[in-house]
Amino acid sequence: MGKITNALKKAADERLQRIERINRIRENDTLIIKKMGDSKVDSRIIAYFDPKALITEQYKILRTNILSLSKNKPQKTLIVTSSIHSEGKTITALNLAMTLAHATHRPKVLLIDADMRRGRVAKYLGVDQKIGLSEVLAGKATLEEALFHIDVENLTFLACGAVPDNPAELLDSDAMKKLLAQMRNEFDHILIDTPPIVSVTDSGIVGAQTDGVVMVVQASRTQRGVVKHAVELLNQAHAKVVGYILTNIEYHLPEYIYRYL
Ligand SMILES: Nc1ncnc2c1ncn2[C@@H]1O[C@H](COP(=O)(O)OP(=O)(O)OP(=O)(O)O)[C@@H](O)[C@H]1O
Ligand SMILES: [Mg+2]
Repeated sequence: MGKITNALKKAADERLQRIERINRIRENDTLIIKKMGDSKVDSRIIAYFDPKALITEQYKILRTNILSLSKNKPQKTLIVTSSIHSEGKTITALNLAMTLAHATHRPKVLLIDADMRRGRVAKYLGVDQKIGLSEVLAGKATLEEALFHIDVENLTFLACGAVPDNPAELLDSDAMKKLLAQMRNEFDHILIDTPPIVSVTDSGIVGAQTDGVVMVVQASRTQRGVVKHAVELLNQAHAKVVGYILTNIEYHLPEYIYRYL
């Protein structure tokens, strides 16, 4: 009888220990994963919330690829564009900027929202930043007034500002060249989110002033011919495509298996 009681007690202790272990793991997880409720940042900026998520790992691979482009010639300023609308440029640019800023050497990263037609960087970050690139380029505001931060200290943002009458002309101006030259001295990486190239010329104009273009292509939507045409338009504008990012890819490997492989 005594033996059975001891065995039951041991089993109960073991269960308790296991529960404690599970609780400890949960506690550790909450240290890593920021509570979404505490932040206004859009939950799709997964690199902000969960550095260990499968998708964050994918952005880290992108970061490695982008950093390895720099071996021969520094690719300090890159634009993110796509052929057509809603391919995932802004979400990609934001996640990539976060991932770059999280690199071990903590580089200074600037993300510029150069989509002055329907820019959404500030919206995805959950901030009400009205002054941005359009005001700076039009001479209505200073850079100091326009640059802003969230709680990632080595990551700075420049919102798009109000929709101007002449976005393409503003982006093609001396003011834009001066701004980029100044920012190059102050930051290690500058990522620039832009509108799609097939509908407007803006990304060609900005792309020509930078070291390269990262093309976002939405899998199973954008057709090859459209991407080809987009690349031709960028080439004509003297903007050089340095890589492609496919969005909307489906993974069949469950995330929890990937994490513990
Ligand atoms: N890697 C991804 N996989 C699947 N869906 C994605 C991915 N990245 C973004 N999306 C989705 O694509 C949609 C458009 O995202 P986003 O606003 O970034 O696109 P965009 O190309 O910047 O659009 P626009 O042309 O209006 O500027 C959103 O619904 C977003 O959730
Ligand atoms: Mg966008």
